[in-house]
Amino acid sequence: MSNKRKILVTSALPYANGSIHLGHLVEYIQTDIWVRFQRLIGNECYYMCADDTHGTPIMISARKQNISPEDLIKKMYDEHLRDFKAFRISFDNYYSTNSEENRELAEYIYLQAKQKGAIYEKEIAQYYCEQDEMFLPDRMIKGTCPVCKAEDQYGDNCEACSATYDPTELINPFCAICGKKPVIKKSIHYYFKLSDFTNELKTWVGGDHLRSEIKNKLQEWFTQGIKDWDISRDAPYFGFKIPGTDNKYFYVWLDAPVGYMATTKNWCKANSRNFDEIWRGKEFEIHHFIGKDILYFHTLFWPAMLMVSGFSMPTKINIHGFLTVNGEKMSKSRGTFINATDYLKCVDPEFLRYYYAAKLGAGVDDLDLNLSDFVFRINSDVLGKVVNIASRLGKIVNKKLNNTLSEIDEQGKSILGEMRQALPRVAQFYETLDYNKAMREIMPLADIVNKYINDTAPWEIVKTNEEKARIVCTVGLNGLYLLIGMLKPVLPRIAEGVEKFLNIPAITWDSLEKDITQHKINEYERLAERIELKTVEGILGVKEA
Ligand code: 2FM
Ligand code: ZN
Repeated sequence: MSNKRKILVTSALPYANGSIHLGHLVEYIQTDIWVRFQRLIGNECYYMCADDTHGTPIMISARKQNISPEDLIKKMYDEHLRDFKAFRISFDNYYSTNSEENRELAEYIYLQAKQKGAIYEKEIAQYYCEQDEMFLPDRMIKGTCPVCKAEDQYGDNCEACSATYDPTELINPFCAICGKKPVIKKSIHYYFKLSDFTNELKTWVGGDHLRSEIKNKLQEWFTQGIKDWDISRDAPYFGFKIPGTDNKYFYVWLDAPVGYMATTKNWCKANSRNFDEIWRGKEFEIHHFIGKDILYFHTLFWPAMLMVSGFSMPTKINIHGFLTVNGEKMSKSRGTFINATDYLKCVDPEFLRYYYAAKLGAGVDDLDLNLSDFVFRINSDVLGKVVNIASRLGKIVNKKLNNTLSEIDEQGKSILGEMRQALPRVAQFYETLDYNKAMREIMPLADIVNKYINDTAPWEIVKTNEEKARIVCTVGLNGLYLLIGMLKPVLPRIAEGVEKFLNIPAITWDSLEKDITQHKINEYERLAERIELKTVEGILGVKEA
């Protein structure tokens, strides 16, 4: 393919103190489908990610478990990687923000900002717990909501009335770790002069990097005025020390996105590639995938950090909505909080990939996992429409037709020709993240193939006319080939199974232009199993010991 694009893709880095859950997977599956699609059409596409390892919650979590933060993040790293592998998330590198590459890059960006006058110091007053000997982040102070008087609310907002406020406004504040009343204490913080970047950021936001609804949101923020950003935290803190200080650390959100680069750098070293070609050159596109909750960090802080240090700006920032389960927010108390590990104990990961694809559009709408709908769609689409073609025709060709395909007749040519006409539309839908539309293009094509097989009934013809049956099976299996080629970004494992069954090299988008004829196929091996609601509901029932 000419005009091969060079693309670097990232998903948000998951925190190293929690397990991967089905909410996270919306993003990793969305990204992975896009990455696999880019590779399928012949683009050079690399997918980078890492664990987001720093910050107070991770430090506290490690303390509670009586282990070092380093041990905690190591343990979580292994768990995350295992889950991602099971869901076939095809990272080129999965690294950690607690790495030398990340320290160097974070320091470099900070020092560039400092040199350009974009950093200043300011004394601020915050809650401090004398028992725990630390400043308390907003989420670690609790108290009574100053607005509705609900008790036991966090320091930044009230879950009862949704009010937002400053932690100092809480009535009867207490430390969420030890319960003691905190005191107010002053300390010096380092600020990034984000306000100075307002005009440059406006120009960047005006470009073709974000969808229009996101630009509108940003417009609101610009109208409110861009505030400077507090990038430092006091010791004790698990993170990188700020150069030139004794006890100040980079706030986790400073070094987290730098992790995108650190991962790339680590990968470049191992693969003899040039880091600057990717993060400073003009040739590489950079695409970030994130959820709508971390928009501010990725559309304001991060671009400003890149601007000040001379790295490439993101080509696109793709933003998705949240996952709901049976119409409601995933919730531990309602038993709808589903970890990847629990899902994997009950259901084929390939099915979640398909279900998400069938429901994902390009916008920020939330995506609902409805378990009965899930069972229905998987059985009807993946099993009933796609896998079924392989199992029905496989049996005939394996048992009665000596595993051999023939030529394709006129009727077959017309069916396959019609299917191929959908290829550019499907490609466009993958490109623009309209996976739901792509699936809606593909499934009716599967109906055409199934109708053809039902109408021609090769299991009947084979009894009297083997050559005619062979033609029908050849047409049907070429239909399967086209379907699975189009679905390959979504169903990589099943696609591999079909490649093996059809005895063909790895499918590429270009290879779909050519029929498979006069060809020996392999024994059919089951590609996937139908599911039942009872089994799927198991993912809700797996409780922690
Ligand atoms: O919100 C989160 O889960 C963060 N750990 C995402 C970080 S993305 C990137 F900036 F590192
Ligand atoms: Zn305390």
